[in-house]
Amino acid sequence: GSEMCIRDSTLDGKTCTPNYLTIASTYNKEKNERYLMANKSLATAPADQTILVTGGAGFIGSHTCVELLEQGYNVVVVDDLSNSSEEAIRRIGEITGKPEKLTFYQVDILDREVLDKVFAAHDIDAIIHFAGFKAVGESTQKPLEYYWNNVTGSLVLFDVARNHDVKNIIFSSSATVYGDPEMIPITEDCPKHEATNPYGETKSMLERILTDLHRADPEWNVVLLRYFNPIGAHESGRIGEDPKGIPNNLLPYVAQVATGKLECIQVFGDDYPTPDGTGVRDYIHVVDLARGHVKALDFMGGKVGTGKAIGLGSIEGPVAEDGTRSGVAIFNLGTGTGSSVLEVIKSFEQACGKELQYRIIERRPGDIAENYAACDKAATELGWVAEYDLARMCADAWNWQSQNPNGYNA
Ligand code: UFG
Repeated sequence: GSEMCIRDSTLDGKTCTPNYLTIASTYNKEKNERYLMANKSLATAPADQTILVTGGAGFIGSHTCVELLEQGYNVVVVDDLSNSSEEAIRRIGEITGKPEKLTFYQVDILDREVLDKVFAAHDIDAIIHFAGFKAVGESTQKPLEYYWNNVTGSLVLFDVARNHDVKNIIFSSSATVYGDPEMIPITEDCPKHEATNPYGETKSMLERILTDLHRADPEWNVVLLRYFNPIGAHESGRIGEDPKGIPNNLLPYVAQVATGKLECIQVFGDDYPTPDGTGVRDYIHVVDLARGHVKALDFMGGKVGTGKAIGLGSIEGPVAEDGTRSGVAIFNLGTGTGSSVLEVIKSFEQACGKELQYRIIERRPGDIAENYAACDKAATELGWVAEYDLARMCADAWNWQSQNPNGYNA
């Protein structure tokens, strides 16, 4: 049944008072003694593993849950629903037909006591950490909220995970860490640049924090995935991107112009040094991106790749007897193809069969002319390449948007 995936248990975050002070007060010697306890093995079959997905009700998180369930993993989602919907969780169960393998808790990762109960209730093997605020513009207005939620929330998560001997983690990073990139296509060797906004800085800081965790305790098995521009939706049209308010990103904006909810696309500048003057990005189908996470778990379990440190910042750590790796591995997840704003609009027009109004306005502050990924490392080490092209991304985005013009709030 549809309710099966939502377990109403005593872990209801609303009944527990968050106590942030316990972070400081329990962070002491006791933890250091636990450093050397074994990490969880990722060498077993997916059906024997449980993956904790933070932010699993969100856009990328929900699509990743579908792919994990389809590969046979057990999935536990924690999500505070601050920018997502419980309906997405129900639909993940519906799409996969495996609601019994999916458990959902409405939990804020800042709530250490409830998070601890989640780890106590489930034998978590690895974490895929999506939860975080993600609006670039908003982050410049609310830096404290962004650092508190994204950085402090992650620190609580990592600490609780460590207390339960879970040191396998995939972190949602972003191509934003490259800033205005020194080379195109961007390889993982490309130096990071200082972020131009708090959101980007939280991504960069969390990459560093996870790297320091591995340096201090080599059992940490960290994969940093740097996403390019995820768009599209599951082919069923049942889950997709559902931004609150007026979308900040190009694709959801275009999709809402297509449904008639918004009137006219604003193209932020046509005087960039690109073929048609508009910004060029590496758009990647969210389902391809989701599959990259499943491959990253295979990599962490020693099932694919070499585990060699490749690219700036990567670290090769000791390998457990069963093959479970450790270290810090960094991968770009993109398609390797750049598309301009005008190309995206054209492609979406073909998908929806309508002409879309647009006008050229000023450049958006902080935007760069062009970025797209070199994807060779993910191809060789993860055995992963993006399959879907821009036409398919737009077709799937339109399928979702036209079936759900108001997102999950039908
Ligand atoms: N654009 C428009 N009009 C809009 C929105 C966007 O012309 O209404 C243009 C932008 O100028 C840019 C392109 O469309 O050239 C893509 O813009 P998005 O806002 O969709 O995406 P960004 O590349 O700016 O941002 C994305 C992610 C961020 C991440 C960033 C850098 O949303 O999380 O890539 O990697 F930080």
